[in-house]
Amino acid sequence: MSPAIAIAYLVAAVSFILGLKMLSSARTARRGNLYAAFGMLLAIVVTLLDQRILDFRYIVAGLVVGGFAGVLLAVRVQMTGMPQLVGLLNGFGGAASTLVAYAEYLRLSGDASITSFSAADVDQVVVSTIVLSVLIGTVTFFGSLVAAAKLHGVMRSAPILYPMQKQINAVLLAAALVLGVMLVAAPSLWYIPLAVIGLAAVLGVTSVIPVGGADMPVVISLMNSYSGLAGAMTGFVLSNNVLIISGTLVGTSGLILTDIMCKAMNRSLANVLFAGVGADYSPEEAAAEQKTVIRYTPEDIAYTLENAESVIIIPGYGLAVAQAQHVLQELASALMRRGVNVRYAIHPVAGRMPGHMNVLLAEANVPYDLLVEMDRINDDFQNTDVALVIGANDVVNPAARYKKNSPLYGMPILNADRARTAIVCKRSLNPGFAGEDNELFYLKKTMMVFGDAKATLTSLVAMMRKSVDS
Ligand code: TAP
Repeated sequence: MSPAIAIAYLVAAVSFILGLKMLSSARTARRGNLYAAFGMLLAIVVTLLDQRILDFRYIVAGLVVGGFAGVLLAVRVQMTGMPQLVGLLNGFGGAASTLVAYAEYLRLSGDASITSFSAADVDQVVVSTIVLSVLIGTVTFFGSLVAAAKLHGVMRSAPILYPMQKQINAVLLAAALVLGVMLVAAPSLWYIPLAVIGLAAVLGVTSVIPVGGADMPVVISLMNSYSGLAGAMTGFVLSNNVLIISGTLVGTSGLILTDIMCKAMNRSLANVLFAGVGADYSPEEAAAEQKTVIRYTPEDIAYTLENAESVIIIPGYGLAVAQAQHVLQELASALMRRGVNVRYAIHPVAGRMPGHMNVLLAEANVPYDLLVEMDRINDDFQNTDVALVIGANDVVNPAARYKKNSPLYGMPILNADRARTAIVCKRSLNPGFAGEDNELFYLKKTMMVFGDAKATLTSLVAMMRKSVDS
């Protein structure tokens, strides 16, 4: 490799690292994205020149078709559909690694036929990385398809469990690894890579179906990590340093994110992947338990808010569904103009992806210093007049503190129930993502206001304006 190419790869790798670092803060995230995109562009251009890929016909065709599909998906996706899209993109990354590694196997075989492999002196390290690449890449592709289907509601989101599930998965994995070892020993066994791909496809599906929809964002992040690992393996197959570095960065950052999410839910990764959490929930049973709530009108809510000195807003997934972030910001500004101390409490797993609420509120230009993380704000609820819960449910469910058989048990929650008054705005008494009924709704201090978040907040803002005018 010429020094110029090596330096260009180094610059690309440094851009990825700086980009990732900047993504960890909302202030620098946009710049971080640009850094990473620049690194990727540089890596692609340098690789094309280095490999002397001068016939660009296929590349341009791929670029046009892929670029069109990518732009179409990105433009059309709703904010709430982002986790599924990320899941699909991870899956495509895994599939790309499988295809590249398998193509390299065919190239090494010395001729175009799949059924003959003449290069007897092929490097065993390369063959082992080919096996790992197709194995991890295929698991990632099929696992990500299932995760995206569950999140998108085209597949039953509850865990799918059957006897000996873990053991069957272990046997599938062991069989794929044994086949891989056989291929390393005898690279001419052309059918082995295909068999590994087949086993990995089944394993991808069977390892994700026991995970419930509520835990799917964790799986998506884990698949993101796998796609990076598959990419790094493919980097070894091709002896391409920048692919090894970028794959490793994706692999480790995905793993760190997975760990952060598990910690925020106070669960282990093993519990998320194997416990089948959410399988016993029965909506019929929950509905049969008759409890009463106190229903209030937007007028009552406006009156309470206007007379509060301090309000903590708790945004959740429903805020994203309703796309009510802008009108919520208007309401907060109206309250602040009246001298009310307003802050937003951000739960680490509110919404459906890490940083979901930060991104949503940043979109509405809510100042960053009004967003306070759970650990820093939780003790303040007891001295706060109103906890205003907008489309959040699981992240304020007190069952997480004591109900041992609840899927939420152990997850730290925002102490909305400890504020003097809790106002909850949602459409119905339906449970949140984890399927657990929320006793916050039934407390005497809780004012339930039913309806779409955007409609409710819009009428609250209109009422505030009216009362200022009059
Ligand atoms: P959820 O518990 O899912 O509750 C959202 C609530 O929003 C629902 O109960 C729904 O009730 C309401 N809603 C939906 N559309 C609405 C609309 N248009 N207007 C008003 N309300 C609406 O959300 P959360 O409190 O944000 O909790 C997040 C969940 O996702 C947790 O279980 C968490 O563990 C899980 N999770 C998140 C992540 C990340 S990284 N964020 C990762 C893993 C798991 P109605 O249908 O009655 O309106």
